[in-house]
Amino acid sequence: MSKGLVKQNLKWAQKLLPACDGDLSHAKRQLVWLKEKVVFDHRGKQYSSLDTLSQQEQERLETYIDQRVNQYKPLQYILGSTQPFCELDIVTRPPTLIPRWETEEWTFKVIKLMHQHLDQSRPLRVLDICTGSGCIALALAKHLPKDSAEIIGLDISNKAIDLANHNLNLHKSDLQNSVEFQQKDLFDLDLNGSNINLVISNPPYITHQEYESLDPDVKYWEDSRALVTDDQGTHIHKKIIQLAKYCQPLDNIPRLLMEMGGTHQVNTLTKQMQLNGFNNITVWKDLAEKDRVIYGF
Ligand SMILES: C[S@@+](CC[C@H](N)C(=O)[O-])C[C@H]1O[C@@H](n2cnc3c(N)ncnc32)[C@H](O)[C@@H]1O
Repeated sequence: MSKGLVKQNLKWAQKLLPACDGDLSHAKRQLVWLKEKVVFDHRGKQYSSLDTLSQQEQERLETYIDQRVNQYKPLQYILGSTQPFCELDIVTRPPTLIPRWETEEWTFKVIKLMHQHLDQSRPLRVLDICTGSGCIALALAKHLPKDSAEIIGLDISNKAIDLANHNLNLHKSDLQNSVEFQQKDLFDLDLNGSNINLVISNPPYITHQEYESLDPDVKYWEDSRALVTDDQGTHIHKKIIQLAKYCQPLDNIPRLLMEMGGTHQVNTLTKQMQLNGFNNITVWKDLAEKDRVIYGF
């Protein structure tokens, strides 16, 4: 690599530093990904570290660096890239929430928990409320035993449902169970008399106060409807609990399982679940030792 190119690369990486917590090796990695995108967009070919960018490509790269540093655009949204989630590459697109590692961690746990209790003789009917990109519904459809589950994902956002359907089409051949997505406001739902066995959800749970201190790449780019809600972040959980109390029990399978924001929500949610007839209520911690999931039978 010529000295000029090395110098120019260092300059770009230094520009990226504010978006990389000041970590130069992280900035250099991000620079490579952005260059790969620029080269692929312009030439339709894979980038090699020996490639010199044309003037037009350099301008495009500068635009991406500006979006990343000054407009706080998440890297996944710039690259138009996928987020790995339970061995699926989930396409991400603004403003639909980018799947998080905490959600992936407990989704794998749920799959493991259910594996031993499911078979084709009595398919589990699952409703994934607040499905977003469809990541949870699709992961269940991929990993649960063949034809042991029928999954519906719903979301209030048209853009989320379009993206979930896009992900469904991409991964159709990987799935062992049926999935469909529907655009619907959960406040218009009624599960009384339905045949759903399990409601699963990663609903919005950030308090208005917490929302103020979120990183700008989350606040400016991800739909606030996906993140924040009233009642100390429990408003939507409370409605989901009222819906899920009508789930038809299936042996050893919880009727309701939800992600939550942390310990500050445990008492409120436990009480609401008890009041609505749930028992054996259990809380799981995530890898960071935060109370993360609540479920009950
Ligand atoms: C935290 S995101 C979860 C997305 C996805 N399940 C995940 O784990 O990445 C919450 C989702 O709830 C949806 N949502 C918010 N209010 C809703 C409502 N009233 N009815 C249905 N969906 C809603 C948002 O559009 C958003 O996609």
